[in-house]
Amino acid sequence: MAETQPAVVSEEKFIIHNLVKREPRAGLAADVRRGLDSQPKRFLPKYFYDQLGSQLFEAICLLPEYYLTRAENEILERYADEIVASVDGETTLLEMGSGSASKTRLIIEALLRKQAELLFIPVDISASALDSSSRILLQSYPQIRVEAYAADYFAGLAELEKTERGRTLALFLGSNISNFDPEEALRFLRALRQVLHQGDALLLGADLKKDKRVLEAAYNDALGVTAAFNLNVLARINRELGGNFDLRAFQHHAFYSEAAGRVEIYIESLRAQTVEITGLGISVDFAAGEQIHTENSYKYDLGNLAELAANTGFTRARTWLDHGEQFSSSLLLAV
Ligand code: AVI
Repeated sequence: MAETQPAVVSEEKFIIHNLVKREPRAGLAADVRRGLDSQPKRFLPKYFYDQLGSQLFEAICLLPEYYLTRAENEILERYADEIVASVDGETTLLEMGSGSASKTRLIIEALLRKQAELLFIPVDISASALDSSSRILLQSYPQIRVEAYAADYFAGLAELEKTERGRTLALFLGSNISNFDPEEALRFLRALRQVLHQGDALLLGADLKKDKRVLEAAYNDALGVTAAFNLNVLARINRELGGNFDLRAFQHHAFYSEAAGRVEIYIESLRAQTVEITGLGISVDFAAGEQIHTENSYKYDLGNLAELAANTGFTRARTWLDHGEQFSSSLLLAV
């Protein structure tokens, strides 16, 4: 069997700025305490993504019901050259929430067909994911340099605002915009617009509004992976904050609200029960049927996307769809 060589990467080609706070558990503790004290109870979706949660999300992306990842890949495979051709001149690539950066490869390859070298600036909350994905990219593409920011989106953007770069193509893929409520989506796109110049572009991946049955199947898969992804938040509180949630006494609940244009995701208590969280020194009562709101996943139509662009300093120049017209990739030009 061949031995795997550790990725050796020249320091000149790879810089990582780590802006993540040293006490990640303090944020989880304060947010869980606040969320369980709220009426209705709620958790923030960012807490899905511990090590197990991130792997469960990778598994979701492979599910037959979860069409989003395949549809976006299809668009990028087919149109990457057209997408990068929409941006003039030597381009720097910026990616918000790059994660494993697998779809990014399609855009990197298209850019490298257009220019000899490339600066890639990924921003992601996970320093370890950034480190490993950057090293793999640098091994695959000797023509690139990586300047990575381990930070939440707003801290990363605030830092990027202080630096100058040339023509920029920003990526926000995977329908990550879906998990922002409308005000947060505006705030995020305005902050991103601040680091861009007129003529720079943002490629925004957004899941489209569609038949309720298709959407509900995507968030209630037959294998139960989405249910495990959702309930893992309780398991995480048990692991990290000394909780005693009995996972069998809760269930996953997800449905599409046509009126709100979003899939709503909850954890529901199957009976009246009290849960202790020793790390927080609290006990929390649940009524039978009581729900904890864990996530919204907003769905867009092309009108919503044009409006979002117009309200944040962009114009929607072009949108590409997959063959099933389930997912959209829009090029928003900074105006
Ligand atoms: C990351 N985000 C775009 C996913 C979504 O579809 O809203 C998260 C997810 N939640 C349940 N399944 C997938």
